[in-house]
Amino acid sequence: MRTTYQNKILIVDNESGIRDLVVDVLEGSPYRLETYEDGLQAVEALKKNHYDMLITDVKMPGMDGLELIEKAKKINPDILAIVMTGFATLDTARMAIRKGACDYLLKPFNIVEIELSVKNAFIRKELNDENNRLRDLTGLFSVSKAINSSIANSADIYETILRASMEQTFAASGSLVIIKDESSEEFEFVKSAQLSKKEVREFNQLVKTKKFASFALSQSDPVFMGCYGDQGEGPSRAAIKKTSEFRSEAYFKKKFDYVFIPIKVNRKILGFFLMNKKDDSFHPSEIQVLTILSNQAAVAIENSRLLKQLRQAYLNMFQSLIVVLEAKDPYTSGHTERVTALSLKIGSAMGLEKKDLDVLSTAARVHDIGKVGISELVLNKIGKLSLEERKIIEEHPVIGDQILRPIKHFEQVRKIVRHHHEQPDGKGYPDGLTAKDLSVFMNIVHVADAFDAMNSDRSYRKSLSGKKILNELLKYKGSQFDVRVVNVLMDLVKKGDIKANKN
Ligand SMILES: [Fe+2]
Repeated sequence: MRTTYQNKILIVDNESGIRDLVVDVLEGSPYRLETYEDGLQAVEALKKNHYDMLITDVKMPGMDGLELIEKAKKINPDILAIVMTGFATLDTARMAIRKGACDYLLKPFNIVEIELSVKNAFIRKELNDENNRLRDLTGLFSVSKAINSSIANSADIYETILRASMEQTFAASGSLVIIKDESSEEFEFVKSAQLSKKEVREFNQLVKTKKFASFALSQSDPVFMGCYGDQGEGPSRAAIKKTSEFRSEAYFKKKFDYVFIPIKVNRKILGFFLMNKKDDSFHPSEIQVLTILSNQAAVAIENSRLLKQLRQAYLNMFQSLIVVLEAKDPYTSGHTERVTALSLKIGSAMGLEKKDLDVLSTAARVHDIGKVGISELVLNKIGKLSLEERKIIEEHPVIGDQILRPIKHFEQVRKIVRHHHEQPDGKGYPDGLTAKDLSVFMNIVHVADAFDAMNSDRSYRKSLSGKKILNELLKYKGSQFDVRVVNVLMDLVKKGDIKANKN
């Protein structure tokens, strides 16, 4: 383990003999040394310059060594401190350690003791720093992975970001507030952790105010708002802006240290974290971690929004295609809406999650989109279709697949569209898949599609009676239709949640 040439040591003792001895011992070693004869001078020097270590006598006129250590730690929390004491009592040594000293030397000491104590302190610090760096990097790496993998779902992103920020900074509670609408400059409270219902309510009201919005939008750096934030004297803390703007608000009156971290992309504020610690203050390195996380959060939130906009643009395009389809094929008019509603009812009853219901909804909406590529003469033919015409109609899942194929975001939907006429017995089309290859989405859309077809008038026949429909479903359960989906559908019909024809 190496010690760096930059390590700067401040030696403070009112006895010149001791100062000279320490300098003699350490001179020639890779340290830069400065000496002072009293604590007050040393504090002034600490305010102006950066030191890595303080070696101080305990008993000195004016300011004693323990007070000096306390002040030095406030200015630079990372400074190493070693005390020299002529009073060989354990109490003094313990007190020094409590004030943050890493070692103590009992006078009279020898050359080897001084050298060893200084060297060991730097080695321990270097090891400790490396451990911390590794911990931060590992933590940030896993957070980064988690954030990137949750971009497709904004609720997941908010949860991941907030949880990671709290874990990395040991915060007592945290909140995440995101700008609702960039044009209206309104904020919304999207996630909180470890806050009481009352605090959530209070905070929710606060972030909705115009006063808060104008405050939040004008911040570009971390801001301290708590009582402990005011007490910091170190250079890192001093660099962080403080504000009295919201101190009068009830939320910030309690004994907490609050830090407000803006989340911004290209100077545009997207939101902010509000983290707090109870009876403790944030360390500058934690603020640094929060700032890194806020940058990651900003990119993730922005990407998630862009992805959402892109999805919406595609859905709008699909809607236009559906309008074209409905104009070509009057029978389809209303069919896609009904199949979507039916599929969602079945999917919900089967306990599908929200994200799966979203996939199901999109797939049901576009399941027949391939019919835009089928001739109107075949689509609207009155009477029985010839074998050749049937083959043409049966091309629509493949055409739907081709329409959706270039859109990578709809890969799952595309597969459902291609296979919405497959059957468990392998007699469906276009690929003759069997039960083991069919997803629950494909099975649901297939059954919902068949149910609505039987339940509606077609160009060549009237709709079937409710009883007949249920009989058909039962008859072909397990061969044409998935058993579970049919059972759920029958249940929903029995309960009256899905209406079958009365005639
Ligand atoms: Fe179809």
